[in-house]
Amino acid sequence: MNLAIIGTGYVGLTTGTCFAEVGHNVICVDNDREKVEKLKNGYMPIYEPELEDMILSNVSAGKLSFTTDLAVAVHECEIIFIAVPTPPHADGSVDLSYIEAVSHEIADALRPEHGYRIIVDKSTVPVSTGSKVSEVIRRYAACDVKVDVVSNPEFLREGSAVKDLMNPDRIVIGANSQRAMDLMKRVYQPFSAPIVEVDLSSAELIKHAANSFLALKISYINAVAAVCEKAGADVELVAQGIGMDKRISRHFLNAGLGYGGSCFPKDVKGFINIADQLGAPMYLLKEVEQINARQIERFLDRIREKMWVLRNKRIAVWGIAFKQNTDDVRESVAVKLIRRLAEEGAIVTAYDPKAAETGARALEGVSVTICSDMYECVRDAEVLVVATEWRQFATANLVKVRELMHLPIIFDGRNILHGENAVHAGFEYHSVGRKSLYPER
Ligand SMILES: NC(=O)c1ccc[n+]([C@@H]2O[C@H](COP(=O)([O-])OP(=O)(O)OC[C@H]3O[C@@H](n4cnc5c(N)ncnc54)[C@H](O)[C@@H]3O)[C@@H](O)[C@H]2O)c1
Repeated sequence: MNLAIIGTGYVGLTTGTCFAEVGHNVICVDNDREKVEKLKNGYMPIYEPELEDMILSNVSAGKLSFTTDLAVAVHECEIIFIAVPTPPHADGSVDLSYIEAVSHEIADALRPEHGYRIIVDKSTVPVSTGSKVSEVIRRYAACDVKVDVVSNPEFLREGSAVKDLMNPDRIVIGANSQRAMDLMKRVYQPFSAPIVEVDLSSAELIKHAANSFLALKISYINAVAAVCEKAGADVELVAQGIGMDKRISRHFLNAGLGYGGSCFPKDVKGFINIADQLGAPMYLLKEVEQINARQIERFLDRIREKMWVLRNKRIAVWGIAFKQNTDDVRESVAVKLIRRLAEEGAIVTAYDPKAAETGARALEGVSVTICSDMYECVRDAEVLVVATEWRQFATANLVKVRELMHLPIIFDGRNILHGENAVHAGFEYHSVGRKSLYPER
């Protein structure tokens, strides 16, 4: 089938590539000329495991192409996916101006000879956005083309986006027309995943409700971690004990610095906002946000408690990306932490295996030295903070780290280091929701 993807970012680029991989002909459209030029020349605008090889092979097989010309894509493809940003406004409501702009452009590009078209919203949007897209098309299309609007929210996780897209837990399709539903099922036929067939509004709500629930799980275990710290219990053992109950599951019960990234913070806000607008307030999610905001403060308090004044303390931070296996630093808790430490006058060095460049941009104007080597980053440091759960941090040579550092103090904000090993290497080891460990003197 001929598919267009409007917006070639983390979602659009990986989705388009995976569609090409399973046999569809895909045109990816973006209004960022530089990004499209890069892709046309075989350079990757983002880091995502497995993606580069898949793009290159599908481009050379003629199944995947890139353009800035939306009209060409609308002309050639019966199904048009929208995967543009939906960032938050200052009041937490979702900025739908990108969706509106693309809907308008699609309407302008429709021609009488096009016949039937499906517009699929893949971006995360508040409930009832689909009907607004339909309205824009009806209002601005210069000709009478039959168009259905569908919601097909995306659940991929950055860092494992290709795997998630190729093997999804489920595919949600929200359509109010059987014709659109049948065609969408054909798009997804090559993926052996259950399809959840629902109406448009329910599909839109599924995405906001799913992301908010995952954020809730993270905040729940972080609130439990705060109790564990006071009670001298171990949050990892508690998470294991409750997570073995299948009704709860161990996933997303990892205590740490809290959730960040381009999705959870904005989607929780977006869901709270739309629920308020509809007169069905989600007080529960307001508390989820509060717990998340407190989590970084609690962690900073514990560093201050140990180090007293942070001014002129040399603090090394491992991790800048919002999670492992990505270069994405949007709403990264690590970035917030680095900024806060620098504001308090600490001498901060930071290292990330993939997010050095994006991190440098996000931290422009902040006094931090971004290092190209994780061991160089800790040289002469008085504290090492682990802020992102990259595997290479968990397997670091702690004896070498100890030799390089000025003082032997680790604050593990992701609970990924082996505490006993750290103590063995001579460190005092502080983590989240667990007792601090000290070497024998
Ligand atoms: N990133 C994730 O993990 C993830 C997962 C699931 C859903 N989502 C949702 O998917 C949507 C896209 O997220 P993303 O992370 O891919 O964003 P992104 O910022 O990485 O990519 C969006 C792309 O859209 C392009 N764009 C903007 N306006 C355009 C226009 N008028 N015409 C053509 N291109 C345009 C931008 O240049 C950019 O390349 C958001 O609604 C997000 O909430 C994201």
